[in-house]
Amino acid sequence: VTDPIPTPVRGQRDAVLVLDQRALPHREDYLECRSVEEVAAAIRDLAVRGAPVLGITAAFGVALAAAGAAGRGDGPEEALEQARQAGQTLKATRPTAVNIAWAVDRVLAAATIEGTPSEGDAGDPSRLADVVLAEAERIEREDAEACAAIGAAGAELIPDPANILTHCNTGMLCTGGIGTAQGAILTAHRAGKRVHVWVDETRPVLQGARLTAWELGRLGVPRTLVADGAAGSLMAGGKVDLVLVGADRIAANGDVANKIGTYGLAVLAQHHGIPFYVAAPFSSVDRSTPSGAHIIVEERDPAEVRAPLGVQMASADTPVANPAFDVTPAELVSAIVTEHGVIRSPFQETLRRAGSVRGAA
Ligand code: MRU
Repeated sequence: VTDPIPTPVRGQRDAVLVLDQRALPHREDYLECRSVEEVAAAIRDLAVRGAPVLGITAAFGVALAAAGAAGRGDGPEEALEQARQAGQTLKATRPTAVNIAWAVDRVLAAATIEGTPSEGDAGDPSRLADVVLAEAERIEREDAEACAAIGAAGAELIPDPANILTHCNTGMLCTGGIGTAQGAILTAHRAGKRVHVWVDETRPVLQGARLTAWELGRLGVPRTLVADGAAGSLMAGGKVDLVLVGADRIAANGDVANKIGTYGLAVLAQHHGIPFYVAAPFSSVDRSTPSGAHIIVEERDPAEVRAPLGVQMASADTPVANPAFDVTPAELVSAIVTEHGVIRSPFQETLRRAGSVRGAA
């Protein structure tokens, strides 16, 4: 099957090509980022968004810096320093999705082990650039594999038929593969299950309306767009069988940071006795963050709320709070689906065990 969704990011030695998601669903434009600053701006301004692909993009951003240093003829120490500084710049873009820091640390670790000037021919800056780019490509490939595994495991949780409520966007636009929560939905759909998706608009940036509704439409998955405020009455009316969302960071105890509005859905689901599932690659699990209370929630520009997508709704002097994410406590989460399968409470223990399977404990 050829997937009719454009690739969200392409990493090259001389540029990072970013599908400008701000123009979707109307135009499929690519930004050509030729410097780390341009990659950082694409992340900050939401041209590219969604935790897993943010990690992939940041990794390609570090590779770009390393290649730039090699191209300028910098020495090995200087090239490594440029890559490290690029990592700092990229980590500072958005604080909540742990995948950015995870991916930056991973490519820098690869560069440091294989590319340190003390290690023979690996001290060649051009080789350092190759090592970082290869590691970034590996992260992208592994994310595609993780999505496939999440899709298979998550699809098992979806009954036939099923009405699924989702929030934000968790599809091909924000991963290296078929998506996380949306990957599970797509896998169930392709297996012949009769799924229908309630797509939350996802205010204020409207990832649901602009991206998820479009992706599902292109993929042929039945979907209906609803205002965020519709969720409660849909559940009360028996029209939701499960809630399935992604994550930006999962703390060691299973608390989940995800797009603002997710927590409210979890509370509603609990009230109505509906399962609330989270799907994410293990790269979104941050076992060094003990609980959700330690997760930094990004506060974004008030203009996103006052003037959604540039249309002035509230007067310019209206005070605004714009937290981009919220934290759903683990006790409201029925299960977390990762590439290691379906994990249930007690998450402290089950996440630790799943982490040690992959040697990360
Ligand atoms: O602000 P965004 O669009 O980057 O927020 C994205 C989300 O909250 C997604 O649900 C999450 O990153 C999972 S993406 C597979």
